[in-house]
Amino acid sequence: MTVDLTTQIRPAGETATAAAARTLRDGGLVAFPTETVYGLGADAANAEAITRLYQAKGRPAFNPLIVHVGDLAAAKRTARFNATALALADAFWPGPLTLVLPKGTRCPVADLATAGLDTVALRVPAHPVARAILRDFGGAVVAPSANLSGHVSPTTAAHVQSDLAGRIDLIVDGGPVEVGIESTIIGCFDRPALLRPGGIPRADIERVLGHTLASPDPGAAAGRPLASGMLDSHYAPRARMRLNVANLTRGEALLAFGRTDLSGVDTAAAVINLSECGDLKEAAANLFGCLRALDTSGARTIAVMPVPDEGLGEAINDRLRRAAAPKG
Ligand code: TXA
Ligand code: MG
Repeated sequence: MTVDLTTQIRPAGETATAAAARTLRDGGLVAFPTETVYGLGADAANAEAITRLYQAKGRPAFNPLIVHVGDLAAAKRTARFNATALALADAFWPGPLTLVLPKGTRCPVADLATAGLDTVALRVPAHPVARAILRDFGGAVVAPSANLSGHVSPTTAAHVQSDLAGRIDLIVDGGPVEVGIESTIIGCFDRPALLRPGGIPRADIERVLGHTLASPDPGAAAGRPLASGMLDSHYAPRARMRLNVANLTRGEALLAFGRTDLSGVDTAAAVINLSECGDLKEAAANLFGCLRALDTSGARTIAVMPVPDEGLGEAINDRLRRAAAPKG
C-alpha cells in the first residue's frame, strides 16, 4: 500500500494518516480512499468545516452526507439501531453498506450534515487507510464522494486532484479503489428500503433479511431526494451518453461490456471495455475511470453496450442512467 501526501508538507515523522487526522481536527478537508470511491472528509461535529465541504464540492445543502465511523460501537453512539440494522451491520460492516437510521439522542453529528433530517446515514468503511484515519482522528467523519457535485465519482487520487485541487487541504493517495462504485444505501425503516444500489448487491442483503427490499417512496421526502442516486442527473461526464446500444454511429466513443461484436465498432472514436470477460465486479471497478477517460478522448457522445441488470449490474446501470440523464 502506498500512502502519499500530494498537497501538503508534513512535519518529519508524521504519517499520512496522522496528518489527515490533524487536518480534520483543525477543521480542514481531507480526501482519502475508501473501498468504494475516494471520499472528501470533514469533522462530522464541526459545522464550519461542513459548510466548507459543501462549498468545495458545489453540493446543494439539501443533500445530506454519509457519516463514517470506525466500528459498530461508535455507530451506536450516533444512531438508534433496530434488529434489521444490527443484522445488516453484523453481516456487512466493515464494508460498502450505508444504513439510514433515526439519530440517537446524543448524536454528535452537526445538523448541517444531515440536512435537517431526523435520520443519519452511517457507514463503517473497510479500506485500511480510511480505518487508520478514523482511528487516529477518533471521531465521526462526514465524507461524500470527492468529486465536484454531479460529476463522475473518483476512484483514484488523480481523479480527486483533477476535480478538487486548490479547494481542499489534503489528498491521501491509497492507490486505485477496489469496489469502484459507492456503497449500497438501505433505509432501516419498518419495511427496509433500497435507497441507492451500490457495492453490495440487493440479493446479498435480501438473503440476510429473509425478505425483499422495498423501493423508496418518491413522495415520502416531500420533493427532496432521499439519496443523490435519486437526483436525475448525477455521475455525469461532459459527453452525451447513449445507453444499451446495438450499433455504433460514426465518431462515437464506445463503452463496451464483454464481446464487442456490434456493428460500426470499427468507426469508433475510442473504445474502452468495462470487462472483456463480462465480469460485473471488474466492470464496477472500471466504470468511473472509463467514463473519465472517454470524456477526455474528446468524443461528443459515449455509446454504452448493455450491462445485465443482475448483481452489481443493478448499481452499474443506475449510475449509467444518471450519467445519461439530461443535465440541469
Ligand atoms: O461509498 C460511499 O457511500 C461513498 C464513500 C466516500 O463512503 N460516499 C458517498 O457519499 O457516496 P455521497 O455524498 O456521494 O452520497 C451520499 C448519499 C447521498 O445520496 C445522500 O442523499 C444520501 O447518501 N443520504 C445521506 N444522508 C441520508 C439520510 N439521512 N437519508 C437518506 N439518504 C441520505
Ligand atoms: Mg457522490
